[in-house]
Amino acid sequence: MSLTVVDHPLAQHLLTRLRDVSTPPPVFRTLAKRLTIALVLEAVRGLPMVQVEVETPLERAEGHLISPDLVAVPILRAGLGMLEAVTELFPEVSVGYVGLERDDVTLQPTSYYEKVPPLRDRHVLLLDPMLATGGSAAGACAKLAERAPAEIVFVCVVAAPQGGGKMQREHPDVPLFAAALDRDLNEKGYILPGLGDFGDRLFGTGPDSGLPPLMR
Ligand code: PRP
Ligand code: URA
Repeated sequence: MSLTVVDHPLAQHLLTRLRDVSTPPPVFRTLAKRLTIALVLEAVRGLPMVQVEVETPLERAEGHLISPDLVAVPILRAGLGMLEAVTELFPEVSVGYVGLERDDVTLQPTSYYEKVPPLRDRHVLLLDPMLATGGSAAGACAKLAERAPAEIVFVCVVAAPQGGGKMQREHPDVPLFAAALDRDLNEKGYILPGLGDFGDRLFGTGPDSGLPPLMR
């Protein structure tokens, strides 16, 4: 499988804090953003560069700029936790959205939203923190591939072997970047050891979200 595990010590530090069940949503959001920066720095290594000349205060210098054809596509909702990292690193990036929700029982994703700019010949960073069965990532790749991008790169926080295998079978041309390749899935399709439900932890919507009681 074309998976790169980003083993930079900072990435592993941030991942470990994300895994920790005692990390509350405000901290979880910050950690997710910082970890995405570390992942994206690796994921964009293959982006095309254009050679330019600039004037330094002293003389002309040759340099390289990333070609401005990048499109970020977070898979709603949890992928939103990775988007700000990309828009901060690449302020000119175009952004599309794919809304997919996995059924709790069948584990199949259902599409509920899609708003994507033209992708022909452009480089797409597809963002979703959890690659579990791979149904959501593979479904999103199939949708985006219809728009003929030059390349899709998938960036996640944690990958399961099952999801990596599905991506390898269905989208072997999509490189995967993750902070960890975990051991397995449980019977409900959650990654083990994983970090739980990323969307719930990001947005404070889980059963134990720790919301204070309403004050009236
Ligand atoms: C989670 C996650 C992925 C998907 C991964 O989203 O963010 O999109 O599950 O599972 P899979 O690899 O088995 O498809 P979920 O459907 O829970 O929706 P959410 O982001 O709105 O919480
Ligand atoms: N979605 C999540 O948020 N976490 C998992 O472990 C699997 C799917």
